[in-house]
Amino acid sequence: MNNSDLNRIKHTINSPDSLLLKGPCALNGTVRVSGSKNAVLPILAATLITDKKCTIRNVPELTDISIMTELLKILGKKVSREENVLYVEKEKDTPGVAPYELVRMLRASILVMGALAAGRNSLKVALPGGCLIGERPIDIHLKGLKKMGAEIKVSGGFVELNASGLKGAEITLDFPSVGATENLAIAACGTTDKTVLENIACEPEVDELFSFLKSLGAKIKHSGSTVSIKGRSRYGGSDFTVMDDRIQAGTYVIAGAVKGSDVRIEFSSPETLDALVEKLCECGCRIDTGSDYIHIKTPEKLKGTDIRTAPYPGFPTDLQAPFMALMSCSEGVSLINETVFENRFLHCGELKRMGADIEIKKDIAIVQGVEKLTGAPVAAKDLRGGAALVIAGLLAEGVTRISETEHIWRGYEDIVGHFKKLGAEIWTE
Ligand code: EPZ
Repeated sequence: MNNSDLNRIKHTINSPDSLLLKGPCALNGTVRVSGSKNAVLPILAATLITDKKCTIRNVPELTDISIMTELLKILGKKVSREENVLYVEKEKDTPGVAPYELVRMLRASILVMGALAAGRNSLKVALPGGCLIGERPIDIHLKGLKKMGAEIKVSGGFVELNASGLKGAEITLDFPSVGATENLAIAACGTTDKTVLENIACEPEVDELFSFLKSLGAKIKHSGSTVSIKGRSRYGGSDFTVMDDRIQAGTYVIAGAVKGSDVRIEFSSPETLDALVEKLCECGCRIDTGSDYIHIKTPEKLKGTDIRTAPYPGFPTDLQAPFMALMSCSEGVSLINETVFENRFLHCGELKRMGADIEIKKDIAIVQGVEKLTGAPVAAKDLRGGAALVIAGLLAEGVTRISETEHIWRGYEDIVGHFKKLGAEIWTE
């Protein structure tokens, strides 16, 4: 990859340095959520299995999407955007290398591995490496590809695959990994044999990928934690509208539980947040769920409650940090058990700087609700931890200055505009 590509990507990560909030602040009004980052990313990777034009609608403006778009251009696609619509079509043959400079910037780049395996003989994908929330290995991805006949060599920070012998297989995933499910499903589209995947992830974004693959022409039968896939030799194009972002929506629902708030969050498929709604009702919130909205009203004082994150339909790990911020000012003790990632408590130190009372014991954070938080300078350590600091800034007395905001822009489109519209005192510097 030449420097101009890399510079173009660095340029897209154009983020103001700090995000500031003045609290405490009650929120009122309606927010409309944009398209799902975690549905768009695998779908963009999957466009590599077809030469035909794909139109992807409801695509949010996020740095993660920009990076994946740049990766597709390096892999031979022409990608253009008109508002929230992406047009992806073949420009040149796909080189078989996904470069490290990109993969280290976006873990989800590893999702091109399945698509490259589906469409070619040999390929080389940089290992994504870990990140702050955990080591995040790809052993389940590679074990499945091996069962499908790919020859795999891991050396020098790269995975080298020879996928010329790709064939159908029956694979049971050791853990319902979202990324491994997506990579193996896309790879399975590269053979006309039948592949059956068991113990797959059941997140709605995985189902969205299956719908997209079907729209290209793959034969897919999904039932519970099993999916069977029959590929074809050539695929058509697609005009596909992606679901709204349930994690973004869930973050605004949690913000709507801040004292004195009355917020309506509009997005598709509110039933995907049932686990969150159940917990917020336990805290004393009054929640009305319609076909395309969640309306939340909050009591004077929230009661604390316990959560345990789990694969869908359990409590989403991506909402653990924002929920913990809310529990830091609720009555009593809340036990936050993170079972999906091994190091997803990095926001605790920052919340404690604001006066939260949190003790970590292995995979459990013991949160003792305090009367109030105090605004302070804090730093976002990861995407959802950054969202937690925004929630804390709404609760805290005084000004909270959040630095390292590039994490936040990765996953929350126009977060400043949305919170301003709900009445928050929020700005960037
Ligand atoms: C996806 O990550 C999401 N990212 C994550 O959202 C989300 O937190 C996660 O799923 C769980 O729901 C995207 O969709 C782009 P996993 P992914 O593979 O696919 C272990 C956000 O904030 N594992 O289900 O990487 C892994 O280490 C991001 O938007 C293996 O051990 O998640 C982790 O502990 C953060 N070996 C657990 O499984 C493997 O081969 C869950 O990982 C693969 C995973």
